[in-house]
Amino acid sequence: MSYDFDAPLEIRGTGSDKWDSVAEGVIPLWVADMDFAAPPELTETLTGRASRPFYGYNKRRPDYAGAIVSWYREQYGVTIGAADILPGPGTVPSLGAAVRAFTRPGDGVFIMPPVYVPFYQVIRENGRKTVEAPMRGGEDGRFVFDRAAFEKAIDAAASAGVAAPLALFCSPHNPGGRVWSGEEIAAFLDFAESRNMIVAADEIHGDFVFGGEGGTPGGFVSTAAFPNHAGRLITVSGANKSFNIGGLHVSHIIVRDENLRAKLGKVLAADFHHSPDIFSELAVETCYKSCGPWLAELKTYIKRNLEEAAGFLNDIPGIKAWVPGGTYLLWARVQGLVERAGCKDDLELVERLESEAKVKITNGSMYGGAGAGYARINAACPRKLLLEGLGRIKTWAKQF
Ligand SMILES: Cc1ncc(COP(=O)(O)O)c(C=O)c1O
Repeated sequence: MSYDFDAPLEIRGTGSDKWDSVAEGVIPLWVADMDFAAPPELTETLTGRASRPFYGYNKRRPDYAGAIVSWYREQYGVTIGAADILPGPGTVPSLGAAVRAFTRPGDGVFIMPPVYVPFYQVIRENGRKTVEAPMRGGEDGRFVFDRAAFEKAIDAAASAGVAAPLALFCSPHNPGGRVWSGEEIAAFLDFAESRNMIVAADEIHGDFVFGGEGGTPGGFVSTAAFPNHAGRLITVSGANKSFNIGGLHVSHIIVRDENLRAKLGKVLAADFHHSPDIFSELAVETCYKSCGPWLAELKTYIKRNLEEAAGFLNDIPGIKAWVPGGTYLLWARVQGLVERAGCKDDLELVERLESEAKVKITNGSMYGGAGAGYARINAACPRKLLLEGLGRIKTWAKQF
């Protein structure tokens, strides 16, 4: 290893949501960013730029789109064109733009809970309705699509007078950590076609795929690899998760179809969003061009974190955890502990863990009713800290 992911990083006091929103002494294993120092190549480039005391209006960097194109080719084996890329103001705001571009107020937007909470927000705050088809959780903890539930949800919405012209698709899946196989993605896109839905795929976790799950021996399959569905597909991603630059609020949106691109571009133009800021653009370009080796080493480190954490959690009576196929997030069934500890639900459990055991994790029902009885644990931190946090859960659980 040439990067030291065991090194503790002092984050409190930087304005971090994950660290500075919890009381001193609490180990935060919640918000999905990582407690590792940024790639040194990135820090060097950004501080170098910051030392030039001019931060005025920027024109687009000529290599920005090319760096994204190369990343798709090298990492996912997908050929996209620079002209297919729209710069977005962050993954979630880009999904919000898609909601406004492809639906009308009062329309429905199809989602599959449990799912990343802001999906609900970008739908509801834009005056649209969620059309929810909960996923089925298998015994092995892996969520599976339930086509019958999809059809039922859309039919029920239609009979209530709500059309669903758009689906938000989370791939890899947060919070479940599922990595959809090429066959599953193709099946989902076929379903969308049968219902005449546009699909906005959120692929922000795409670089954290460890292989081996659900027919994905090599890794991540991007929806951008399905040009036959280009007429109904927008793919939203970014370097945020992969290189821990979420605070820069930058994303890219791949839209091969000219018509869809024009519609989405119009919504972004209405907010006068035409370019990332100077630091974000430089950061994305640097990450994709120079920080691949950092990410490759980090993935090995995180995979071991996930395996050790799942093993550790499975020793705690009332918890069942699974090593995810992707993301740095562990999804665990905690209902047994909810009951043993006499908690009302998973929310009360995580609240008590925070106040009594001094460790903060996320409760599953936050992601929709289908997540009730589960919890999400962020494993992207130095292993010692992770195991200390999980140790606190174990010690706390012993009293019941
Ligand atoms: C599925 C998913 N989409 C989007 C985001 C946030 O992306 P951004 O910071 O680019 O809006 C997250 C962060 O946790 C996420 O898990």
